[in-house]
Amino acid sequence: MNWEAILAPYAQVVEELKVKLKGMRAQFEYESRHSPIEFITGRVKPIQSILEKAEKKQIPLNRIEKDIQDIAGVRVVCQFVDDIYTIVNMLRSRGDLIIIEEKDYVTEKKDSGYRSFHMVIEYPVETIHGRKNVIAEIQIRTLAMNFWATNEHSLNYKYKGRIPEQIKLRLKLAAEAAFKLDEEMSKIKNEVQEAQRIFHRKRN
Ligand code: GTP
Ligand code: MG
Repeated sequence: MNWEAILAPYAQVVEELKVKLKGMRAQFEYESRHSPIEFITGRVKPIQSILEKAEKKQIPLNRIEKDIQDIAGVRVVCQFVDDIYTIVNMLRSRGDLIIIEEKDYVTEKKDSGYRSFHMVIEYPVETIHGRKNVIAEIQIRTLAMNFWATNEHSLNYKYKGRIPEQIKLRLKLAAEAAFKLDEEMSKIKNEVQEAQRIFHRKRN
């Protein structure tokens, strides 16, 4: 398989989505409004991980592009839980992508304690061989959710997916604490935002 050729459109999608989301953030800043986007990251799934996932999920190589939906992945991190839904609504109303699936693990957390809003989208990219509709996954979460997920992901890596029960329990407690932090911050959101607006005006 010519992986470089297969993955090129995915790299293109990741870059384009990052540019567009950063554009949204800049627009909020120009208008001196609270940006629902704190930062954006993106990646193309490494070939090794694609093969491992295909193997694990019994996906034949000719189905990879249809059945592995996170080859292109973009993550949007926000300050407040509300911001997640602001971004979701903005993405829903865009004309340059089609939403195929939504999973709200913010309202309904996973057993692990994981929280995030997931969207699987179809995004058209222009290639030298014409237009290609590429599937991509967008994860939207708060800074607190991201902190938790990043640490849990490292532990999963370390323990090859078999995290000891004791640590799993710790992680659940940490997830509760992260949730509590998000809740408390939401309550003083207006205060925080006012302070940030004043700071922004002074800087300009
Ligand atoms: P995948 O086979 O991973 O695609 O699972 P799925 O099709 O059920 O999708 P889901 O939306 O549940 O998860 C997709 C992605 O979300 C994963 O690749 C991770 O990036 C992230 N994710 C899901 N659950 C967890 C979790 O418990 N911990 C962490 N750290 N990340 C998670
Ligand atoms: Mg998936």
